Amino acid sequence: MHRPLFLTVLAGAALMAACQKPVPVAQDGTDLWLAAGRPYEEVLASVQTAVDPALPAEGYHIYDADGVRHVDGGSEAGLRYGVYALQRAEVLGQAGPGLDLQEAPRYGLRLLNHWDNLDDTVERGYAGESMWEWTSPDIPEARIRQYAELCASVGINGSVLNNVNANPLILDAEHIARVAKIAAILREYGIKTYLSIKWTSPIALSGLKSGDPLDRKVRKWWQDKAAEIYAAIPDFGGFLVKANSEGQAGPQDYGRTHADGANMLGEALAPYGGIVMWRAFVYSPTSPDRANQAVEEFLPLDGKFADNVIVQIKNGPIDFQPREPFSPLFGKLHDTQMMMEFQITQEYLGFSHHMAYHGTTWEECFDADTYRDGAGSTVARTVMAVAGVANTGQDPNLCGYVFAQANWYAYGRLAWNPELDAEAIADEWIRQTFLRPDGMSEAAFSARFVAPVRDMLMASREAVVNYEMPLGLHHLFGGTHYGPMPWERLARPDWTPAYYHKADSAGIGFDRTRGGSDNVDQYNEPLASTFNDPATCPEELLLWFHHLPWDYQMKSGRSLWDEICLHYDAGVRQVEAFRRTWAGLEPYVAPALFAETAAKLEIQQHDAEWWRDACVGYFQTFSQRPLPQEALPLERPIDSLVFQVLRSDRLGMPVHDENRRPVLVDVRNFRRPE
Ligand code: GCU
Repeated sequence: MHRPLFLTVLAGAALMAACQKPVPVAQDGTDLWLAAGRPYEEVLASVQTAVDPALPAEGYHIYDADGVRHVDGGSEAGLRYGVYALQRAEVLGQAGPGLDLQEAPRYGLRLLNHWDNLDDTVERGYAGESMWEWTSPDIPEARIRQYAELCASVGINGSVLNNVNANPLILDAEHIARVAKIAAILREYGIKTYLSIKWTSPIALSGLKSGDPLDRKVRKWWQDKAAEIYAAIPDFGGFLVKANSEGQAGPQDYGRTHADGANMLGEALAPYGGIVMWRAFVYSPTSPDRANQAVEEFLPLDGKFADNVIVQIKNGPIDFQPREPFSPLFGKLHDTQMMMEFQITQEYLGFSHHMAYHGTTWEECFDADTYRDGAGSTVARTVMAVAGVANTGQDPNLCGYVFAQANWYAYGRLAWNPELDAEAIADEWIRQTFLRPDGMSEAAFSARFVAPVRDMLMASREAVVNYEMPLGLHHLFGGTHYGPMPWERLARPDWTPAYYHKADSAGIGFDRTRGGSDNVDQYNEPLASTFNDPATCPEELLLWFHHLPWDYQMKSGRSLWDEICLHYDAGVRQVEAFRRTWAGLEPYVAPALFAETAAKLEIQQHDAEWWRDACVGYFQTFSQRPLPQEALPLERPIDSLVFQVLRSDRLGMPVHDENRRPVLVDVRNFRRPE
């Protein structure tokens, strides 16, 4: 039987389409996750909008009625979030007829903390100089608008513009005027402006003799300063304060407490509705366990902070390590408002060179049960606000690496709703960031590109944990916080890796049990007992809480030593697998993005190998044991590695050679100039 001609033609066309190669769409990462969606204005123009005061102020409701799509918001801000939610739903294919989506953010304060300095350097910034361009005559309006749009699209509603190690000049007239200009732009996107302040500002700026928070003149100075700021920025958000921490001055220098200091600033800001975010990142070099110190200092002050003061607490008790248990403060303070501080910038996870998706890190922390008010008192429930240390800079793609953008995105989404699933967020981010190639169906794109990239992201943080600091090890860094230096000796013991790993011929790990520093008892039961016993302590935190013999038997039946080696190996192998996966994705990705990620993953693999060689080699000098048979052989002898330091550029970025290997300089070759 003959087929009609038109059917033959149709079948032929279908076959051709199926055989056609997808053609990647050119893109360079500078649109971040707004790449795939329709422009905001276009989405806005396509819907009917209304402000409905019955909705929560920042909430929205998207629905269809009478053949028209509506976006109602509790306020202009809510409306904006609704339009962005619709834009996202469109990309995700979830915006079909009958859409009915009603949401409001869990936390009222969802901030970014920029550690940007007035000389345009960025502390722990790996995406170029400060995006605010403090040293230029003009403010970079186009970039600020792009930034603000990105923030608004994920619900971020506050920015602290400057470093917590603050320069007092941020509060002089010239800088307040400049900050007011930035604030005027951010305001259009529903973002409030905040500043970090230096405790000694009254001394530095006005020659006061003291910074004592109970001194009348000091109080008056801050009240006048608040009046001056609010005259320029009527909706100014408030102050972020690092005091009596890492050499910064604070109220304790005058025999006063953190509460005295915070409340004094709270009093100055209260008439205008401003807040104080007082950081709990405190530790002194003489304490036997840094992990204990925040609870020791802040628990006695519980209930003593003013209503407009929030204590801002890093997710873990030490300092943004690849894995830490949650800070015990979250489970201990009952009568103090608490705020989470996450770190988006990858200070300890390979800067903007390594793929390390933090959605999983933050999900783990938010979901952890503190047992503060009985079972189910998750960290997410004990805090009332969230801050994230930003990873932005002047680089054209703002974050230094397309995959670093995922962390800014995930932070915003989790700050909006801490119950969101890290994997779903990764999926959303990929679909909004990477454009589907021409000639490729949605289903094929999902299966061949989105799924493998999502799997990589989901595995990425654990890979870093494995090749940097597995099984609860932490702080094995040298001064740059990039490469492995478990042997490093620094001026302060609590900046020195040996303080944390405590490796000796008997074993390895920090004894924080009841027989050790008793950090375990800063956690509520049943956690305290669970952590106290190596048999019940989660293995991923084993060496955080225990010092154990090298032949300690792990759940796998292997010795601790073998298990350590195999975790380092696993990390290297995971990155090798990421590289293979990525190589197979070339047909679907714009050449610029493909090349960038291929190069970064190569760097990451070489760095991972360096970490393994350094840590396994160094710990072997204590364990005196052979590597397990299945382990990869070490490439570099430890005797030479211990003398090598990483070369960094002017902005502190590590230097890699043309083969993307870290450039290590032998310190023995340094010569003093004649
Ligand atoms: C870390 C980081 C510092 C930063 C500090 C802080 O120690 O390395 O650069 O100033 O945290 O959070 O205050």
